[in-house]
Amino acid sequence: MASVFSDRLIVSIDVGTTKICVLVAQQLDDEHVELIGIGKAYSDGLKKGVVVDIARTVNSIKNALKEAELTSGVTIESAYVGISGGHIKSLNSQGMVAIKGGSVRPLDIANALEAAKATPIPEGHYMLHILPQYFTIDGSERVQDPLGMHGLRLEVQAHIITGAIASAQNLIKCVEMAGVKVQDIILEQLASADAVLSADERELGIGMLDIGGGTSDFALYQNGSIRHTMVLPVAGNHFTNDIAIGLRTTRAEAERIKKEFGCAYAPLIHENSSFLIEMVQGSGKQTVQRLDLVAILQPRATEILSIVFQDIAHRGLMPMMSAGFVLTGGGSLLQGMPELANNILASVRGEHSRNMPVRIGYPKPQVGIIESLDSPIYATGYGLLLQGLKKRRHNIDSFSGPSVKRVLMRMKSWIADFF
Ligand SMILES: Nc1ncnc2c1ncn2[C@@H]1O[C@H](COP(=O)(O)OP(=O)(O)OP(=O)(O)O)[C@@H](O)[C@H]1O
Ligand SMILES: [Mg+2]
Repeated sequence: MASVFSDRLIVSIDVGTTKICVLVAQQLDDEHVELIGIGKAYSDGLKKGVVVDIARTVNSIKNALKEAELTSGVTIESAYVGISGGHIKSLNSQGMVAIKGGSVRPLDIANALEAAKATPIPEGHYMLHILPQYFTIDGSERVQDPLGMHGLRLEVQAHIITGAIASAQNLIKCVEMAGVKVQDIILEQLASADAVLSADERELGIGMLDIGGGTSDFALYQNGSIRHTMVLPVAGNHFTNDIAIGLRTTRAEAERIKKEFGCAYAPLIHENSSFLIEMVQGSGKQTVQRLDLVAILQPRATEILSIVFQDIAHRGLMPMMSAGFVLTGGGSLLQGMPELANNILASVRGEHSRNMPVRIGYPKPQVGIIESLDSPIYATGYGLLLQGLKKRRHNIDSFSGPSVKRVLMRMKSWIADFF
């Protein structure tokens, strides 16, 4: 490893359903990284965000690592890894502790979060993240940062994210079999949100949906804290499958058509606009109307967006999204997604509500080979680097050392999630 970098090196591995992306960066200061290498490989060992074939996944990770090492010129030893999948669940919980020294210290916050852990979680699951939403001291006003405040009793409202132990173990095993130590596993939408949302947006209130190949990962922020998360096991690959079935063509041809001619919102398409497709049994080409393609894609896109928006509305969280809604991940590149999202949001919120801005989220690295990240498919990978940076600031390495130390590290990790 080039020694100049070794202690400042941060690596992320986004183990996606369609691609594995390894990003290599050098820490510049507490908030910035310089991207120095990237490796991307085709992924075919996952289904709907979870590992279903260890050998194929290991192979894909190795391919991406090899390229990342070549482009960066460093040897990759450890990395932050993203996790997603239909097994991910979230719940809210409260924790309360006595403030021992008269004013709140970091340990009181850690203890309050530890107390919030005392809540039932699904069997076979473990707590992936405990994210503070707000604190109260002696039952008074909500505060975001209680450090140093005086009082007797500290209470925290926390958002807990759990994942299936087996799925996490398979993921860790694949990365380690590819020769890399896992520094921490991080929920993918928390990473994507770090990459594409501004601090102001999170303060005002914003929703973000990362539509990948296998899962659509949602996160909602307000007052700078996480309010809600959700993972839907429906995403870009479903669009491709729907096209392959609907137009009787191969998956490869369906994927090409989706990217070239696909659209999720009929009003954007001119009547009589058409294109040619390869038929499945080599029976030549056929002309297809673009509006017929939209008739396949729009219902699937509507299904994904409606599930998310109705869930937000059902929980009474819609008013929190005052800065609007951001779409990211490869699925957001399907033409018409922002327009459709805007339309469905208006119908879920009621006709008289203000039009909500919807935009596509691009990761915005400031230094290094930045043009190579200019696509929403890199939101998770770049966000994982930023999460790694944050954890490094708090000197956290969750998966190393003996188990007791690991638990303490995990607690520190929750604190890092807060700050
Ligand atoms: N221009 C485009 N138009 C439509 N869809 C696109 C476009 N570009 C990429 N996609 C789709 O985006 C999906 C891949 O997105 P992404 O790379 O974010 O997923 P992933 O990270 O591999 O999967 P996941 O996060 O679900 O595990 C694929 O289904 C792909 O077809
Ligand atoms: Mg992804």
